[in-house]
Amino acid sequence: MTDQHLYAPEGIYAPEGNDASSKAWSGRFSEPVADVVKRYTASVFFDRRMALQDIRGSLAHARMLAKQAIISVPDLTAIERGMAQIQGEIERDEFQWKLDDEDVHLSIEKRLIALVGDAGKRLHTGRSRNDQVATDIRLWLRDSLDVIDTLLRGYQAALLDLAEQHAATPMPGYTHMQVAQPVTFGHHLLAYVEMAQRDRSRLADCRRRMNRLPLGAAALAGTSFPIDREFVARELGFDGVCENSLDAVSDRDFAIEFSAAAALIMMHISRFSEELVLWMSPRIGFIDLADRYCTGSSIMPQKKNPDVPELARGKSGRVYGHLMGLLTLMKGQPLAYNKDNQEDKEPLFDTVDTLADTLRIFADLAPGIRVKPEAMAAALKQGYATATDLADYLVKLGLPFRDAHEAVARAVRAAEVKGCELAELSLEELRAHAPAIGQEVYAVLSVEGSLAARDHIGGTAPKQVRAAIARARQALA
Ligand code: ARG
Repeated sequence: MTDQHLYAPEGIYAPEGNDASSKAWSGRFSEPVADVVKRYTASVFFDRRMALQDIRGSLAHARMLAKQAIISVPDLTAIERGMAQIQGEIERDEFQWKLDDEDVHLSIEKRLIALVGDAGKRLHTGRSRNDQVATDIRLWLRDSLDVIDTLLRGYQAALLDLAEQHAATPMPGYTHMQVAQPVTFGHHLLAYVEMAQRDRSRLADCRRRMNRLPLGAAALAGTSFPIDREFVARELGFDGVCENSLDAVSDRDFAIEFSAAAALIMMHISRFSEELVLWMSPRIGFIDLADRYCTGSSIMPQKKNPDVPELARGKSGRVYGHLMGLLTLMKGQPLAYNKDNQEDKEPLFDTVDTLADTLRIFADLAPGIRVKPEAMAAALKQGYATATDLADYLVKLGLPFRDAHEAVARAVRAAEVKGCELAELSLEELRAHAPAIGQEVYAVLSVEGSLAARDHIGGTAPKQVRAAIARARQALA
């Protein structure tokens, strides 16, 4: 274990020799940074993911500097040319990332200076890495948030397609994991579409607050150059500027808000996963999952395990963890920028990666759910799922609800003793508990009757489920 390290695999980020003057800030230092400290403080292994955002931010800053005559137009042209080359190198994976260059910002700036000389050295005028990094993360997260929103939409669309096919497929609805009342499988799926819709509105909300420009705050107090922050904000697609320079460089609320929204998304997916796992267990057997989402056992030849939903359920844990990590990262920090903030990136990156993969997989997994309506219908026959319908029927005949509830409870007990369903009791047997009951009770007790009766917005009547699907599709369009 000499130079080997999880974050600095040998050969990729080999130190270049330890020359005190190799750093952009080394002027005031009399001895080189210890190797372990270099590795400990460097972020280039992970923050290079923000390279394109860093270039975008630098170009907007340089254009503003030229517009304000802080740098010359030829300098701007040189910076633009250098950055175009650097972007190409990064995209072709030819860029040399080095531990010695510390972070993405210094790596790109150093390369720019190597390519275009003094013009490159003027880029950092009126700017600090503190407002630069704050800008880069906002840009990166804004881009990622837009991708996540599109993926959520795809997941919703896949659920809606499945819901449409099963708008009238009866299944037991549960409370306390006990059979409660019939619902349709389509209606059940629409609950997850609603959750995803709220998730998307949370992301939009978070995006609105995130979409402000920190650049111009410089290190913490602003800059003595005649900058035009509104111009940079417009160039980068921000809605406005962060108004206090100290807050601009130190605020990471947007990262925490995003992580909270991400935790909720994973919680929703985890609940769905739990249901998929339960539904696939042979005891319940409501669905089968396409083979591409399952794995076998190395010892039990008969096994087909729902690994993907299980993993998604498990991965919610790391996303919650990142939220806690970021909250803890920020809680003790005095104003303004502190190096602690460098720790914000890995949790954010992992949150986005986990979320994106999970949503991608679930959008594809939904059409791979094979529904077994016979198993759902069989489960509906156990548990007196239409008992509430009988009570509602008695209320419509004039009984107070509490008396109706009592009468039906007695009828359920009688059916239990006889070992049959409510609809299998004769009219006389039912009338023993409520004499007003008529022949039409058998339609009331049927699953189809129960479903069709819940005919209002938000209800499970197949007609309402179809209308809800149409509304949801409109919201997606
Ligand atoms: N890599 C640093 C980060 O991620 C960039 C800002 C460093 N600023 C500084 N003054 N050391 O936060």
